[in-house]
Amino acid sequence: MELLLRSSIVLKGVQHVPFAQDHCICPTRLVPPGEATVNIQSWEEFRERSIWEYELKISPADLKLGHFVRRLSIPWEKTDFPLQGMMVDSFEKKKWLQEHCDWVIIDLDRSPNPYRPAVYARHGRDHDTHGIEGPALHLLRTASIGQETLSAAIGNYQKLDQQAESLIERLSADAEIDMQQARSVVDEMADGLEENLAALVWLSRIKQRDRYTAQHCINVAILSMGMAASLGWGRREVEMAGLAGLLHDLGKMRVDKEVLNKNGRLTSDEYEQVKRHTTLGYDMLRNEKAIPEEVARAVLGHHERPDGAGYPQGLTGEQIAPLTRVISIIDAYDAITSHRVYDPARSHHQALGILWKNRGSQFDRKFVECLTSFMGWVTPGTLVRLSNDDLAVVMESPSIRGFLPLVRTIRQDQGELHLGPELDLAGQRAAGVSNPLRVSEVLPDSYADIDMRELTVQLSRQV
Ligand SMILES: [Fe+2]
Repeated sequence: MELLLRSSIVLKGVQHVPFAQDHCICPTRLVPPGEATVNIQSWEEFRERSIWEYELKISPADLKLGHFVRRLSIPWEKTDFPLQGMMVDSFEKKKWLQEHCDWVIIDLDRSPNPYRPAVYARHGRDHDTHGIEGPALHLLRTASIGQETLSAAIGNYQKLDQQAESLIERLSADAEIDMQQARSVVDEMADGLEENLAALVWLSRIKQRDRYTAQHCINVAILSMGMAASLGWGRREVEMAGLAGLLHDLGKMRVDKEVLNKNGRLTSDEYEQVKRHTTLGYDMLRNEKAIPEEVARAVLGHHERPDGAGYPQGLTGEQIAPLTRVISIIDAYDAITSHRVYDPARSHHQALGILWKNRGSQFDRKFVECLTSFMGWVTPGTLVRLSNDDLAVVMESPSIRGFLPLVRTIRQDQGELHLGPELDLAGQRAAGVSNPLRVSEVLPDSYADIDMRELTVQLSRQV
């Protein structure tokens, strides 16, 4: 079993990050008469509804970034926060609350993030695209990579990697597979997803040509979970997205490898063989106790298309479950950005362009728009060329930066890769630097054989 990274990686201890003064108290979001929001139709209804509609007593484990916390299980004077009531706008605050409180009361009227824990979920609101316009979709673009998150993400990634390899090996040998174990790995990953998302997306940029099958499953799992979380889906749905992503192409292990890896046009008979991987995967999963029905259905339907031209059932539009539509889009995105025997890797930009062009026909229109919002112009780990011709890798790309992300240059020294200094492209503009650098080209993963594993080793030593 190949290890993802050198076993000698030792991550530095976690630094204490002091809390900044909380100046980010969100003004109460009063809703003008007649403006609809969260089932509220009028000012009267808004005023008269039960407090339980919007004030929820929840476990700190269910807190999300963008929740406004009104009360705590401990006296406010015992906290580091100066004013009673605060926005959870950093992972440090969230972690502090989780470590010190038994419960918290959140106010959803003052929370930009509309997420409600499952116990308070409204009927029919899960598995939808609610939250599309909300800050929840900026989950990835507000995340950064730190020591703790990178360390946790590497741990998650390695377990997922082992799981994917084990499934492939056992299926190739016609041996029994342990789905409960696969579920446990995804479950553990879902726990820290919000915090570790930027680092996990960075790791999803690792593309080794000889490990496409396993890495594709891992990447689809990571990105599907990230997108589900960004859509505001509940904890269970996020886990289901990860499981469906990990298992979506399982049926390919039962398809002739020569046909799968054929470098050239498939005959109609060969294409029929490849298409069978959806039903083969479904048949493997449908009687597995550890696999929920919606996951098996997503595996069955991940090549369906909104226009009805997909397979195996030729379903259309809303007949295709939201989870299935998400897996379908992420599957295509990762395949397009990976090198396959019959198609070279395209850049993040080109992939989004292809999905965008085919939205409404091949891919669900709304979810393509969601993916574009979720991932943004570039993501952590995207390789870019700067205007001075240097190569660089994106570290953070908050939406407020527009096309000017935070990057680190990549330098090659006697065959070894090194991460150079951090460059704040937006900061250069703001500081009035003459000839500020800009991104001149977004490059495919593994461009010029740049090994993301090597860059990750460098990063883990330096963050
Ligand atoms: Fe597939």
